[in-house]
Amino acid sequence: MEQVLYRVLSVLFTLCSELDGSHFRGGIISWRPFNNTASGTSIQIQIHQRYFWNRQYFNPYLCSETDVINKTPIPVYDSLKCVKNCTSSNYPSAGLSTSMTTTDCDTNLMILSWAGERYDNFSILLTTSITIGYNSTAWLVMPQIYKGGGIWSIVNRLNLALRPDNYINSSPVTNTLPVVFYQRGVLVTHVVQMADNDATDYLVCRWSNSNSATNYNQFDECGSVCSGLPPGTTLTGANCTLSFTLPNANQYYGCALQIEDFFSSTYTIPMSSVPIQFLFYGYNPSAGACATAPSIIGDRPDRACIGVPIGVQLTETVEIQTYCPGQTIVDLVTSSPIGMTHSGISNPSPNLWTMILTWTPTAIQSGPQSFCAGAIDNSSLQSAPWCITYLVDYESPNLIVPKVVQGSASPIGTVFSNQSLFSIQATSAVGRPSRNGTNVCFHLDTTNASVLCYDAGYSPNVIYTGYTIVIVTTLTWTPGQSYYVTMDSGFASGSVFCHAESAPITDKTFWRFDIWNPARSSTTTTTTTPPTTHTVTSLGTTTTSINTACTTSGIVVTSTNASTTTTTVTTTPPTTAGPTTAGPTTTGVTTESTIPVFYPADFENACKQPVAIMSAIMMIAFMPIQTLAMYAAFTKFSNTFKPSNTAAKTRHQQRMKNILRR
Ligand SMILES: *[C@@H]1O[C@H](CO)[C@@H](O)[C@H](O)[C@H]1NC(C)=O
Ligand SMILES: *[C@@H]1O[C@H](CO)[C@@H](O)[C@H](O)[C@H]1NC(C)=O
Ligand SMILES: *[C@@H]1O[C@H](CO)[C@@H](O)[C@H](O)[C@H]1NC(C)=O
Ligand SMILES: *[C@@H]1O[C@H](CO)[C@@H](O)[C@H](O)[C@H]1NC(C)=O
Ligand SMILES: *[C@@H]1O[C@H](CO)[C@@H](O)[C@H](O)[C@H]1NC(C)=O
Ligand SMILES: *[C@@H]1O[C@H](CO)[C@@H](O)[C@H](O)[C@H]1NC(C)=O
Ligand SMILES: *[C@@H]1O[C@H](CO)[C@@H](O)[C@H](O)[C@H]1NC(C)=O
Repeated sequence: MEQVLYRVLSVLFTLCSELDGSHFRGGIISWRPFNNTASGTSIQIQIHQRYFWNRQYFNPYLCSETDVINKTPIPVYDSLKCVKNCTSSNYPSAGLSTSMTTTDCDTNLMILSWAGERYDNFSILLTTSITIGYNSTAWLVMPQIYKGGGIWSIVNRLNLALRPDNYINSSPVTNTLPVVFYQRGVLVTHVVQMADNDATDYLVCRWSNSNSATNYNQFDECGSVCSGLPPGTTLTGANCTLSFTLPNANQYYGCALQIEDFFSSTYTIPMSSVPIQFLFYGYNPSAGACATAPSIIGDRPDRACIGVPIGVQLTETVEIQTYCPGQTIVDLVTSSPIGMTHSGISNPSPNLWTMILTWTPTAIQSGPQSFCAGAIDNSSLQSAPWCITYLVDYESPNLIVPKVVQGSASPIGTVFSNQSLFSIQATSAVGRPSRNGTNVCFHLDTTNASVLCYDAGYSPNVIYTGYTIVIVTTLTWTPGQSYYVTMDSGFASGSVFCHAESAPITDKTFWRFDIWNPARSSTTTTTTTPPTTHTVTSLGTTTTSINTACTTSGIVVTSTNASTTTTTVTTTPPTTAGPTTAGPTTTGVTTESTIPVFYPADFENACKQPVAIMSAIMMIAFMPIQTLAMYAAFTKFSNTFKPSNTAAKTRHQQRMKNILRR
């Protein structure tokens, strides 16, 4: 009943707002230079505007997903003007158009939003130090909104003065859903996403303020939605976290903030000021509502950052989990980059709902582009917002699929139960993820139970060095068992901007290893001195040996098997019992392989952390054993992966070059 009532109210409100001409629902303005190195007297910059409008205002034209696909312009022909200190700049006096390209259209009764964004490029004088702004009428009317009803004003500071590091600044970037739902009377914590291309900048958000005599932008920053949240609301600027309780249901609350970047935390004057204005909506859950709001799950966690190339189609699946029978996802509110299309919502299995996003980033979208989504069920429960930043024209580091012949992870194959050093390589230089909760886990193959996890966000057991990640474990593995390793999105993070993240690894076959079971060994050898060569006997076919001179810097493995007989590999580790591994049938391949190692430069880097000293020493101690164990497994694996011999050779030569160079 209540649900019906407030739907009717919403429709009434919508009708009212049409009459009032109230169509503004918030927005964001940011900018960046194309090249942050100054030369000459002017520079090419890009200004980004995103606005949310009331869908019903444009009646009888009502937007739909077709407008997203067709990139329809939203017919609001005002201008973003220079409003302060304009003589310092050649900013166009007519301003920039406010007609946005459609990116999202929301038909949910409580949202009814038509949103779009726009990029403008132009050349501007380096003396520019201006405030740009867009003001008009009107915001949502009261009592539909807690506080509002009058003019809107949204402003940004565009200052091209050189930063203390002599570069030209880029403003912070952010994104939000147009309307965020929270239950009335419940204390909520809401985090506004903020990021900056100048990775070392110190970002702080503050309330927008209408006092043009005292505020940084010297212009009304928020019109009628200044102090639009209820009394008692707190804002923690350094992480842009709001904490509040919405007093009334079926009412909107305007939120207007400025996100500012400082050269460092000791500076007091910001370098730019990015506005973000959006709405909260208070609701009373209906009688049959589920106790738990839906949540957006899926491979990528909230606030992940993913590098994507230009011109390559990207498909991302938003997965939504529901928790009660009958809890139905009726809408996914989104805020998307231009050109990203949204599928309908499907329900592939009970309690799981999906929407597929498809997007081919274009050259003009180079740089950070963000996407936010929030799922709404049929009792108006909205999931927490889920926002992803795509870093266009940048490739995320990705973990290289371990294959013995490629040598990107070690160890694989059969190892001792005291194996405690694990390493894997990525396709580019990596660093620690910027979020906690990014785990690397070791799982028992038989039960899939995770036996050991480290949070790469802070764990000292995970060491990042160059292209390599080293994991130091503290577990005695169970002999005879097989294990595999999984890694969350971002386990390997890039070293630029928002630390673009590696794709998650959940595949059991990606990186696995077996623990040698001494009880099953058929050959036991004890030697007191390490052998200088290790012999691999391929029964009935060939015998090849390892050049031990290379074992601390990568070993060369050559195996030529002309027949298809069963191969037994026997290795003799120093001073211990040697494992005997029965390999599968071999085929006629010749392969050459290298095994990844800690390079001297890696040692130097790693040794800056105390734990690495231990690991480096252990690495030296373990290397021969590990190498042998890997070698034992090699013959077995080389049959599984049949790489092109030439490719392997090239890689080996490349690696040897790298080693020599270090
Ligand atoms: C940026 O501008 C500087 C100075 O004109 C130039 O040397 C540099 O190559 C430019 N960088 C890029 C990426 O275009
Ligand atoms: C804006 O600049 C980018 C990069 O220089 C260029 O690819 C794009 O075509 C420009 N767009 C417009 C509208 O001028
Ligand atoms: C106005 O512009 C001039 C020239 O760029 C600059 O020196 C001055 O600081 C600016 N004033 C304000 C209030 O931003
Ligand atoms: C917008 O700002 C200008 C000053 O730049 C002011 O003259 C105008 O009245 C404002 N418009 C509204 C609707 O407040
Ligand atoms: C934001 O910072 C405050 C103060 O340091 C802290 O109490 C709060 O937990 C932080 N919130 C989030 C979401 O990190
Ligand atoms: C949500 O939809 C389901 C399926 O149509 C229905 O069984 C359930 O009662 C609805 N819940 C509410 C609160 O409307
Ligand atoms: C690990 O186990 C092997 C075989 O049992 C043994 O030779 C080696 O000394 C052990 N290493 C350590 C550090 O305990």
